[in-house]
Amino acid sequence: MAETHLEVVKVWIAPGCIVCDSCENDCPEVFDVQEETCLIRPPAQSESFLRPLTPSIQIAAEGCPVEVIKFETKEVEGAAPWANQPEGQPAGAVPAAKAAGPSKAPAPMQPADPKWQALLSNSKVSPSLSAGLATTIKRSAEVNQTEEIVRSMDMKDAGVDWKHIPPDQRAALLSVAGAYHPATPLADRLRQHLSIGARSTRRQFNLALVVAWGAMAAVTATFGAMFQDFFGPKVLKEPKSVYRVGKVQDFSLAGVYEQYKPNGIWVVNLTPDDTKLVALSTTCTHLGCIPNWLEGENKFKCPCHGSGYHRDGVNFEGPTPRPLERYAVSKDPDGYLIVDKRKVFRQELGEWDSPESFIDIA
Ligand code: SF4
Ligand code: FES
Repeated sequence: MAETHLEVVKVWIAPGCIVCDSCENDCPEVFDVQEETCLIRPPAQSESFLRPLTPSIQIAAEGCPVEVIKFETKEVEGAAPWANQPEGQPAGAVPAAKAAGPSKAPAPMQPADPKWQALLSNSKVSPSLSAGLATTIKRSAEVNQTEEIVRSMDMKDAGVDWKHIPPDQRAALLSVAGAYHPATPLADRLRQHLSIGARSTRRQFNLALVVAWGAMAAVTATFGAMFQDFFGPKVLKEPKSVYRVGKVQDFSLAGVYEQYKPNGIWVVNLTPDDTKLVALSTTCTHLGCIPNWLEGENKFKCPCHGSGYHRDGVNFEGPTPRPLERYAVSKDPDGYLIVDKRKVFRQELGEWDSPESFIDIA
């Protein structure tokens, strides 16, 4: 029976990539690890591109920790150009680990030709430890294009059959043709600059970037706040609590004055029941609603649960447990009534007798 071997003709990534970078390190010609997942590079859509890369693809698939690299193989007559592959593996889509063979050992390659080794040692291509002589250098679109040009050249006249040369020779050829650039990728340079360590993954690098941006944002916010604090207007943010509500004689008639209700104050002249001018709080002592003054019924009535208060603030109906509160009042040198909401007087505590809690208008 004639000798046959398997060549990879199609490769794809199943859902579940964890972006570990391993496959791109093993076979950068095919795998392109992005932020969210791994992609197959456009040239690797073609069978002719994939076939010579079979060993690297198998190694990458075997090394994928979540086994999401799938590939399809075809049986080809003759010995494998890159190695003496074991026979008997079926063609078709197979899980990566199975396709790589039970031993999980990298596909052996032909002994390196000293001529090609010399070329490689003089070039700047860096061999991958895990993938034999496959390079670990990331390449730009231009470099991929260069590789395509080299690949399309008729090398047979030079005694080279491109499809069947071993990876070391292919790498050397591409190197001589300038397909590889030795320049360190920007990400690696940044990694070194940030001292993240040579073995850090792309995720670690992104995390470091996020942390750096976060730190910069925090510093900016801090300096912005300091700037605002230093140059911003120095205004008092607390609500006003002392009101000059008008001349005392403006409240000489008996009744409830509601013009300061929006400020939480009712000014009440208690005549004829009493000779006092008081300032009542507009907050219901049940659960904090704002009652209404009902002139016709001569009472305050809370709309929430029906509590009622007499004109002097004493409760007489509904669920409220105690009278409305009174604020401190005084008369300034100009004869104005001053209401100070910072001081509160409660009837049930006997505080309404305090001279600060009323103005005597007798
Ligand atoms: S080795 Fe597997 S998990 Fe890691 S980047 Fe490649 S496809 Fe994704
Ligand atoms: S809040 Fe006024 S009666 Fe309940």
